[in-house]
Amino acid sequence: MAAGLELASLHDSLESPVSESMNFLNEVSHRYPDAISFAAGRPFEGFFDLDGIHHYLETYRRHLMDRYGGDEAAVSRTILQYGRTKGIIHDLIAAHLRVDENITVDPESIVVTVGCQEALYLTLRALRRNDRDVLLSVMPSYVGVHGAAQLVDMPILPVRESGDGIDLDDLVSVVERAKASGLRPRACYVVPDFANPSGTRLSLESRKRMLRIAAEHDFLILEDNPYGLLGDPSGPPTIKSLDGAGQVVYLGSFAKTGIPGARVGYAVADRLVRGPHGGTESLADQLAKIKSMLTVNTSPIAQAVIGGKLLENDHSLRAANTLEIETYRSNLRQMLDGLGSRFGGDGSARVSWNTPAGGFFLLLTVPFAAEDDLLEVCAQRHQVLWTPLHHFYADSTPRNVMRLSFSHLLPHEIEEGLDRLAGFIREQSQD
Ligand SMILES: Cc1ncc(COP(=O)(O)O)c(C=O)c1O
Repeated sequence: MAAGLELASLHDSLESPVSESMNFLNEVSHRYPDAISFAAGRPFEGFFDLDGIHHYLETYRRHLMDRYGGDEAAVSRTILQYGRTKGIIHDLIAAHLRVDENITVDPESIVVTVGCQEALYLTLRALRRNDRDVLLSVMPSYVGVHGAAQLVDMPILPVRESGDGIDLDDLVSVVERAKASGLRPRACYVVPDFANPSGTRLSLESRKRMLRIAAEHDFLILEDNPYGLLGDPSGPPTIKSLDGAGQVVYLGSFAKTGIPGARVGYAVADRLVRGPHGGTESLADQLAKIKSMLTVNTSPIAQAVIGGKLLENDHSLRAANTLEIETYRSNLRQMLDGLGSRFGGDGSARVSWNTPAGGFFLLLTVPFAAEDDLLEVCAQRHQVLWTPLHHFYADSTPRNVMRLSFSHLLPHEIEEGLDRLAGFIREQSQD
């Protein structure tokens, strides 16, 4: 038999806990199919509509027929042929950003990607020139940012979390220390609205200050915003809408507000990039060069479906998601009430939780290390799943915190799931 490959001879990222995280969590949920899952951060499936796909495609086709003056060959080519690297629905995305987020951008600064995850990868790939380049990110942080940074060999310097998201004094100290030791912080990754995993939301003052810090220290802000539209419209504006200098790369996803299976996301990257002879292009053009060597272009068929959904809702995904938004809010209320009634009264504060104002997640602190082995025990004995927080630190150090996701559950599943979780926590607390 031919000798196998040594894992140690392959890319470092394959040995990191992050690459095991998703496998481990998926594998546990496969082995316990009847368990109620507070682990999966998935959109609610109750409003999925397969027939809607045909409808959206037809709407987009008619839109193109108007644009191309009835030239059917041009319409078919746009949807069925290899396509423009930066995408075909950039104009509709720009309109959506104007309507829903008060963000005004040139459609040419948008790159439509295979999910937000590709947008994150492209951006980090472009920013990582050499060993000096580092990324800043609040810890705990979305597993995908750890994964993308590892793929491009870009270390993450952790920044402390605060009640509203990120500790900006710590951000300044981390940046100053990094620069003093010869490193070059290129960007700070942040999910300002209903962060994954912690559900926190950054205040307006913090958003403005973060922009000032980024400008002063010359790094970009990577604003990842898959959940913002699901919150209260009177909440703070996106950082991108406050940005007049291309300081923010805005990372968008249609997974939570469009159709997850379409795998469409985008980056808005309007920062100017100077060439060696003084000419300028946008950062979006650089991301497109990388994309052309990675996924070539995002499926135009998938883009057409998302484009049709935008057209049918006058470009507003807030309008398209009124039922989903109500479901997520009501699930959040039910979770907070349910935790209160099960753990609230004893005054011992051995079990505590945060109270996000929206999104898919909250954090539950328990009086024991909530680690992978215990998740297994919990799944087996109590048929309920949650995510150990260490997965969001990209390490294996157990912490006393679980991420609970409630987005995809029905009310009776939330009640039953919380009962099972309470049984497990009681059992562990007595050990
Ligand atoms: C903060 C955050 N960013 C990005 C993504 C991924 O988005 P997409 O499915 O569009 O790649 C997720 C998905 O869970 C997320 O929580």
